[in-house]
Amino acid sequence: MKRLVWYACLTVCAAVLLIGSPASQAKELSGELEIYSWWVGEEATPLNSLIQLYSSRYPGVKIINAGDNGASGTDSKTILRTRMQGKQPPDLLQTHVGQELIGSWVKAGRMEDLTPLFKTQGWQKTFPKELMKSLGTTKGIWSVPLNIHRANVMWYVPANLQQWGVSVPKSWDEFLDIAPVLKKKGIVPLALADNWTANHLWESVALAGMGPENWEALWAGKLAFDSPIVVKAWLKFGRIIEFTNQDASSLTWQQATDRVTEGKAAFTVMGDWAAKYLQTDRKLAANTDFAWAAAPGTAGQFLYLADSFGLPKGVKNREAAMAWLKLLGSREGSELFNTAKGSLAARGDVDSKKYDPYTRTAAADFAKDKVVGSMVHGVAANEGFMTDFAMIMTTYLKDRNAIAAAKQTQQIAIKNGIAH
Ligand code: GAL
Repeated sequence: MKRLVWYACLTVCAAVLLIGSPASQAKELSGELEIYSWWVGEEATPLNSLIQLYSSRYPGVKIINAGDNGASGTDSKTILRTRMQGKQPPDLLQTHVGQELIGSWVKAGRMEDLTPLFKTQGWQKTFPKELMKSLGTTKGIWSVPLNIHRANVMWYVPANLQQWGVSVPKSWDEFLDIAPVLKKKGIVPLALADNWTANHLWESVALAGMGPENWEALWAGKLAFDSPIVVKAWLKFGRIIEFTNQDASSLTWQQATDRVTEGKAAFTVMGDWAAKYLQTDRKLAANTDFAWAAAPGTAGQFLYLADSFGLPKGVKNREAAMAWLKLLGSREGSELFNTAKGSLAARGDVDSKKYDPYTRTAAADFAKDKVVGSMVHGVAANEGFMTDFAMIMTTYLKDRNAIAAAKQTQQIAIKNGIAH
């Protein structure tokens, strides 16, 4: 018995020595740590709060906060590609959970498997099942998730709708009924921004038209992208964008959202990061100054995406990068980041009272809705598909040829290994 106790003590003491106390770790970590993301410009606040926490714990580490500005990573991911191809990876890279990472850098063997980290931190049960499915493959777990966002949300100002005599459309057909009425009054029915937001709108329109089962069948290679139901989605999308602003391509998503709160447009479809933007940056009150509903025809469906960070192989400061990942996945890090970002924490144990009014409704919907993965934000589609899809969209916005767009989408699905 004594021997057993002694052995147990030895094991624990050795573990303590190996792991070290947080204070001794803090002393040991040093050097530069490059964190690469698309949260360096207008969307910087939540990431900065995490960086501050990290720096207070590891003052010896100099953070290089690198990347490009917002737009769902459109530009930052292009630069990242060049760096990864040139074998110059940052210490940490922002990525959406799902095929965006798995179908690119994981497939190319360039990411570290984080299973050991998940095991030591006990994270396999901390994150929801849907998320765990998208985080891993049979060969490993590839990034640490921060949050859960919803893509299929429509934003509006209740008082404006009342003044214009319209209500929130429950389907895209209802939207098409009220859109001419709004247009006659000089109001843009639906505010749109640059190209990626057209892709973003497309997936909400497609999901509404085909339903979650068909949506999932598309990504499982069981439904062709040129089947009649997808052509129909393109046709519907074409009718809807007739009612968007002419200057969409020169606006950011924030500027398009402003059009709604300024009373120049009636609605916009944007992910729920818009809630925090409206509340924090624009100082507007949820439920009065602005409100929201599921994008038309998608009530009961939660088109989700999740932001995360991954660790490329062969980085310069792996130890400091691991400390960053531990902080992201921790309850403290998660709470700090998500209350600043207005997103649902990826961890299930963050106190929901800390959420803003919008995020509380998102938490309730996530728990009861049918959860499906976003294409545009990397859960369902790999990076190659998304890049090619953006090109199809650019052409479509000029020629409005639904059949050609659907056919080309099937071709890129084959090219990128989604369809056969
Ligand atoms: C999404 C990302 C969000 C937000 C948004 C707008 O892809 O997941 O966190 O950054 O883009 O840029």
